[in-house]
Amino acid sequence: MSTFRITRILPEDATDAALRADVLAGLTSSPRTLPPKWFYDARGSELFEEITALPEYYPTRAEREILAVRAGEIAAASGARTLVELGSGSSEKTRYLLDALTGLRAYVPVDVSESALDRAGRAIAAERPGLDVHALIADFTALELPDTPGPRLLAFLGGTIGNLLPAERSAFLASVRSALAPGDTLLLGTDLVKDEAVLVRAYDDAAGVTAAFDKNVLSVINRELDADFDLTAFDHVARWDAEREWIEMRLRSRTAQTVKVQALDLAVEFAAGEELRTEVSAKFREAGVRAELAAAGLEPVHWWTDREGRFALSLSTVR
Ligand SMILES: C[S@@+](CC[C@H](N)C(=O)[O-])C[C@H]1O[C@@H](n2cnc3c(N)ncnc32)[C@H](O)[C@@H]1O
Repeated sequence: MSTFRITRILPEDATDAALRADVLAGLTSSPRTLPPKWFYDARGSELFEEITALPEYYPTRAEREILAVRAGEIAAASGARTLVELGSGSSEKTRYLLDALTGLRAYVPVDVSESALDRAGRAIAAERPGLDVHALIADFTALELPDTPGPRLLAFLGGTIGNLLPAERSAFLASVRSALAPGDTLLLGTDLVKDEAVLVRAYDDAAGVTAAFDKNVLSVINRELDADFDLTAFDHVARWDAEREWIEMRLRSRTAQTVKVQALDLAVEFAAGEELRTEVSAKFREAGVRAELAAAGLEPVHWWTDREGRFALSLSTVR
């Protein structure tokens, strides 16, 4: 018998308070920004899944290729009895790990999206007799892991680490390090620096799915904070910042307009052409990833890429 449980770590009122604080800070700063975690209500999670199947969006296919080839090596090196996955979403690629980890007792997917956790967690529990699936609705930047059998493999796939700004990234890796015990391992997916045109296309597809995903954050704010963003009054923009080596997704106001956010008693004036940054997606180089892991007290013992060298998975132990 397998079991499925879903636990909300962040109570709904704390989530609401966090959204209010982020929107107030982000919409009143210059330049305006919003943190990417608010994309992912049920619709946002569906749109992200559509993105992963787009011809332009290579990261999912590249990471899946690595997992298909290396899952056995990852399983042997980690010997994990618990797999914790941060930002697990649909857990679709995770199946390679679940198949390969023959001694696995518990799977702990962690995500802010309750709908994604519920769907993926139930399906995995139903498919895998004997596996304890304990989903956590939680913010992975405030890690709190349940007491499950070790050794643990902590997986952070999809290149999601690139959505954290550099200072957030080092704090996050330090918190991962302190959540791990000797014998535990970290499997980290990082998208790699490549040709600008390939990168920009991956975040600005011809079918407009990424544009709809980008604007979904405005729908979330309209619904949750009683705002009146007109989604047709903003254009989706994806831009490569060559100096910082990251993609930025932005929403550009088509006209001069005022947006009201009733729940915050806030009126936000956008100038025509003014841009609101909604996501950063950093791209990495091997030396940089190794240095960031080492600075957090982690020791990369494997580095694998897909055949075309577009994406990397690293496996680290605790130093
Ligand atoms: C880019 S998607 C990657 C999904 C999946 N791991 C993959 O590789 O396809 C990011 C995922 O992380 C979740 N997420 C984003 N920010 C989060 C946060 N601060 N805490 C927990 N989950 C978060 C989203 O809901 C989404 O499922």
